Formats: sequence, structure tokens, C-alpha cells
Amino acid sequence: MERLNKYIASCGICSRRKADELILNGKVTINDEIIRELGKQVALDDVIKVDGKVIIKEEKKVYIMLNKPRGYVTTSHDQFNRKSVLDLINEDVRIYPIGRLDMYTEGLLLLTNDGEFSNKIMHPRNKIEKTYIVTTDTKISVEQIEKLKNGVNIGSYITKPAKVKLIKNDTLEIIISEGKNRQVRKMCEVVGINLLNLRRVKIGNIKLGNLQSGKYRYLTDEEKENVI
Ligand code: URA
Repeated sequence: MERLNKYIASCGICSRRKADELILNGKVTINDEIIRELGKQVALDDVIKVDGKVIIKEEKKVYIMLNKPRGYVTTSHDQFNRKSVLDLINEDVRIYPIGRLDMYTEGLLLLTNDGEFSNKIMHPRNKIEKTYIVTTDTKISVEQIEKLKNGVNIGSYITKPAKVKLIKNDTLEIIISEGKNRQVRKMCEVVGINLLNLRRVKIGNIKLGNLQSGKYRYLTDEEKENVI
């Protein structure tokens, strides 16, 4: 948390004293609510506007990998008050997840405040591969694997060919370059695989490795530069 006038000043808009004037004149909003209180504190996920325009602080760039546990959402504000991955991260800058993992999926999640880096990973043109491990109690057949490989209809969308490998009797590795909502779950459902657990272990060249569940670390320079 930091004082609103200090935050405005650190965005390079004006001095703290001038920021106080803007606040008193009703020119400043936090999450679209006009604020006239001088001592108001700003939280990391608040959206601050001056004269209707969002202001953002120049911050050092942060690149994080988190091993997301099951039961956490990847959004910051959740209408049902569920636990957010952002609760697991203790940084003094605003960061956001690159893409999403659904609430029950665990594993590798990247977070940053670098929009360019995020776009590079997310842009469909870059077709970045994401590797998932599926565990099931279904006996997996060759036919099921072939179907997943060729692409399946997950309801108004046919998935692109995927790389699929049986790792153990009850464990599959699925590599996809797309990111439709709950895609791997839907793919498994369509071919009759009862998915018990879903974990993402790799994004592009970045591997989760043995990072503990709920823990995070900074990406190395090598990981940042060679993500694709
Ligand atoms: N596929 C899913 O089903 N869920 C995810 O979170 C990611 C991919």
C-alpha cells in the first residue's frame, strides 16, 4: 500500500502537493470512484485515473514462475472471493498472470508486469507450446491417443493436431499450441478419458522443474531470452 498522492507523483504526473490539489478537486479516481480523501492508500491491484486517464507507474520489470496449487484462481478480483494466485506472491510491483490456468489445474504459471513479454508468449502467431500432464483412472487406448493427436471437436471448435504421449498406464503428456478455455479437460472428456489431475509443466522452453507447489521464483535471464 502507498499513499495516493505519492503514487500519482511517482507516475511522473506532478508533485505530491499538486497531486493533493487534484485529489481535492475530484480529478482522481480509484477503481472509478472519485476520491477526495488526502490520506487514501492505494493497493497494488487498484486502477488509478487522473482526469479519466489511467496512470501507471514506471516499475522495474519482474518475471516470475509460480507452481500454482489446485484451488486457486488466476484472476485478481474474484466475485466469489476465492483464493487468487496473487495471494501467493509477495512483490512490491503489480504483476499479472500470462494467460490462465483453471481453478483445478496446477503447475507452471508465468507472471510479469512486462506487456511485451506477455504478448510474445500469448500471441497465437508464435504458436508457443504448452505441455500438460494428465492423470486418469481410465485405461488409455491407442484410439484415444490417436484422436487427441488428430484434433477433436470440443464444441464449436476442432482442436489443432497435438503431440500426445503415454508416459505411464494412467498418465499422458499432451502438448498443445492453443489455449482455448479448459481445452485439455474438454479434449479428454470428448475421447472418454476421466481426467483426475491436470498439471502444466512447460511453456515454450521454460520448465517447471522441481519448484514446490505454492512457491515461486524469478526467471533466469536465459529463460527470459529463450522462452520461444
Ligand atoms: N487446459 C485446461 O483444461 N485447463 C487449463 O487450465 C489449461 C489447459
